[in-house]
Amino acid sequence: MDGATKYSAQSHIMILSSGNTRPLQTKRITPVVRAMEVDISLSPRVNSVKPSKTVAITDQATALVQAGVPVIRLAAGEPDFDTPTVIAEAGMNAIREGYTRYTPNAGTLELRSAICKKLKEENGISYTPDQILVSNGAKQSILQAVLAVCSPGDEVIIPAPFWVSYPEMARLADATPVILPTSISEDFLLDPKLLESKLSEKSRLLIICSPSNPTGSVYPRKLLEQIAQVVARHPRLLVLSDEIYEHIIYAPATHTSFASLPGMWERTLTVNGFSKAFAMTGWRLGYLAGPKHFVAACGKIQSQATSGASSISQKAGVAALGMGYAGGEAVATMVKAFKKRRDYLVQTFGALEGVKISVPQGAFYLFLDFSSYYGTEAEGFGMIKDSESLCRYLLDKGQAAVVPGDAFGDDTCIRISYAASLSTLQAAADKIKDALISLRRAVPV
Ligand SMILES: Cc1ncc(COP(=O)(O)O)c(C=O)c1O
Repeated sequence: MDGATKYSAQSHIMILSSGNTRPLQTKRITPVVRAMEVDISLSPRVNSVKPSKTVAITDQATALVQAGVPVIRLAAGEPDFDTPTVIAEAGMNAIREGYTRYTPNAGTLELRSAICKKLKEENGISYTPDQILVSNGAKQSILQAVLAVCSPGDEVIIPAPFWVSYPEMARLADATPVILPTSISEDFLLDPKLLESKLSEKSRLLIICSPSNPTGSVYPRKLLEQIAQVVARHPRLLVLSDEIYEHIIYAPATHTSFASLPGMWERTLTVNGFSKAFAMTGWRLGYLAGPKHFVAACGKIQSQATSGASSISQKAGVAALGMGYAGGEAVATMVKAFKKRRDYLVQTFGALEGVKISVPQGAFYLFLDFSSYYGTEAEGFGMIKDSESLCRYLLDKGQAAVVPGDAFGDDTCIRISYAASLSTLQAAADKIKDALISLRRAVPV
């Protein structure tokens, strides 16, 4: 019976005897529907999660585009390239061949075996298929890992600038995010001494993202070794190594998997996926590799939440891993294009007064310090007081959508995604420069 419905006549009265129920009378009744107030309260868990500022700016950009304003969108975290043909073909063949049913929760043995081979050959880490959990994107892999290992009150150590979801995932697990600042002059890399000073009995998980979203920083092996030495002194501490951008890296930088460092395999949860390097954001495919005990716990969560990833995407994933070392020619071509764009933007913004840059060594983002423009007044707009107002101004005046650094835990910067063609980036850079120059003219600093 509907909770908002009451019956006007005595009806549906049941005789309850020896377990039998039957209607006492069958006369027609008229329901009186009363509006009942709905309890709209939400779980404290949801209330603790912050809404995304990236979504707010993206929504504003979309509204402008719909209104006919030619906004250039550089806020997205996805490659502008199409999925390589051999991968797409594998997906289409999977459908044609009827490979469209549930797969095992952890992913097909075929894909998990291919992932083990990749991790051994490219990353120097040995896993068996039962130490791999394939999920619907790396985002799910990370959330499940946080949920599986953190207890209420545990601390999740997150260097800033961070990928927007890490602190919120910690909150979803009733854990406390502990943000460790880094500086642009240190290429946004975590200082092991700062890490050491912040660790305690409560520290459960350290999240490292290299190459990083949003900074493009790549942790050199030596620094990771120093971090590993600190980690090794804290028996409760695990490390989640988010390596989703590993193939989008610019020489001479090289990628090191945290689990490959001495003594770290046992306490590292390695996350990777197909979205970025293989331009497969919409296929939703990622994975976790780690000691069986932890992977099985994540698998338990997944089995009650989503079950296995798409059978079609898993076939496509096998094809992606079959494209050769680090994704072969197709990925190398995309990385070459990303590098060209990075070089162009670094040179262009580097020439602009009052901008600080740490040259990104990987991923496809530029995290620029524009804080010298804060405190200026823009005609017809108002005060530029922080990264959010600067981004709104750039959208208004420059018609370029970029993301405030505040969303990533660093209000001095803004993030520009260069997952767009060189000509688009040139047009955007011109508009951003003009908008900034007119700010400079307004109030000399
Ligand atoms: C650092 C980082 N980790 C994980 C993800 C999740 O990727 P996906 O769920 O598409 O595999 C993203 C996506 O933006 C990311 O930037």
